[in-house]
Amino acid sequence: MVPFRSGMVVVGPNFCGREQEIGRLRAHISRCARVCMIGERRIGKTSLVHETVRRLRGHSLVFIDLLGVKTVDDVVRRIVDGIFSSATDSTFTRLARSFAALRPIVGVDPVTNMPTLSMAPGVQPLPDTLENALDYLSRLKNTVVLFDEFQALLSLPQEEQTDIIARMRSRIQLQADTPYMFAGSVRGDLDRMFFDHSSPFYKTAVRFELGPLTRAEFAPFLQEGFSQGNRSTDADLLAHLFDVCHDVPGDVQRLCQCLWDETSSGDHVGPDAIPRALQRLFSDEERAYAILLENITAQQLKCLRALAAVGGAASLGGEFLASTGIAANSSVQRALNSLVKKRILFRDEKRYRYCDPFFGEWIKHRRL
Ligand SMILES: Nc1ncnc2c1ncn2[C@@H]1O[C@H](COP(=O)(O)OP(=O)(O)OP(=O)(O)O)[C@@H](O)[C@H]1O
Ligand SMILES: [Mg+2]
Repeated sequence: MVPFRSGMVVVGPNFCGREQEIGRLRAHISRCARVCMIGERRIGKTSLVHETVRRLRGHSLVFIDLLGVKTVDDVVRRIVDGIFSSATDSTFTRLARSFAALRPIVGVDPVTNMPTLSMAPGVQPLPDTLENALDYLSRLKNTVVLFDEFQALLSLPQEEQTDIIARMRSRIQLQADTPYMFAGSVRGDLDRMFFDHSSPFYKTAVRFELGPLTRAEFAPFLQEGFSQGNRSTDADLLAHLFDVCHDVPGDVQRLCQCLWDETSSGDHVGPDAIPRALQRLFSDEERAYAILLENITAQQLKCLRALAAVGGAASLGGEFLASTGIAANSSVQRALNSLVKKRILFRDEKRYRYCDPFFGEWIKHRRL
């Protein structure tokens, strides 16, 4: 079996390192603090919270994923779904009774064979379901609540957004005994929700910035993965791998999967295998990348090309500006800002970077 995991939450033996972050998070949980966890896509936010709670004896996690919510009803449903998914033998009956008005459906999980609860598809949340659900959370003992992709609330229509954020805040602020985590990757949006003084959540949470895994902790973990399939590696391969992936753990593991598929038991996996692994990855992503390309202007492409040529990340110095081939600096700035709005690039401190480092590699490879 391929020992690398990507695109999923990793815990237990699949979770590497982060002892220090787990310790910090555990301290916040023991104080029932509210934590706003900010970090790039695929950096490991969701996994870190899952793993931390998993290691806390007697604690459980209510995981509420707000990705893609468009209406208040979607938000309420996701909260109820999160609560239902956390049902255990001891909470099942109480849960079914507390939410009887939503006519929960009892089923069986095909993998664990455990009973499950879910909201019937046609049932609408009631006007007080949100408050009831949040109150229910406050009564759970030793439970951590994670609102993941919390910034998605900002995509609700303005009036609904203001209303639901205010309602959530007013309930959550009364819950002194429940630790809440709010995680998200669209940095500016989450910052605005917690650190802009006009926001209802202003200063209600401690900021927890999550960076990449260090190479020192991640490299032995990956080497061990390769050795499970009788493949040897070297320091050059790992250095190259981390560079190509900008140290983003999810991307590193994705490329390791491709390296694994490109090699066989007994092989030495050196840096020369990376282009072949990328080629494999491109064949999966080709269509998605072509669609991205259709939606960008000629000047934006020039900027992407220049950025790809310097490894996918650059600050706006004279050298980079000249390398775009665009005469006016203000046009480069405009093109880069549009690419940030389209979530093709993002800004970290002073640098512009590809959200997906493999897209940059593809642009370079295709000589676009
Ligand atoms: N501690 C870790 N050990 C090993 N791999 C990790 C670790 N953290 C993250 N990863 C890798 O990154 C991938 C994404 O992890 P996760 O979903 O937790 O990140 P995220 O920051 O929540 O991502 P997103 O922004 O997409 O929600 C995992 O599937 C795994 O490949
Ligand atoms: Mg996540």
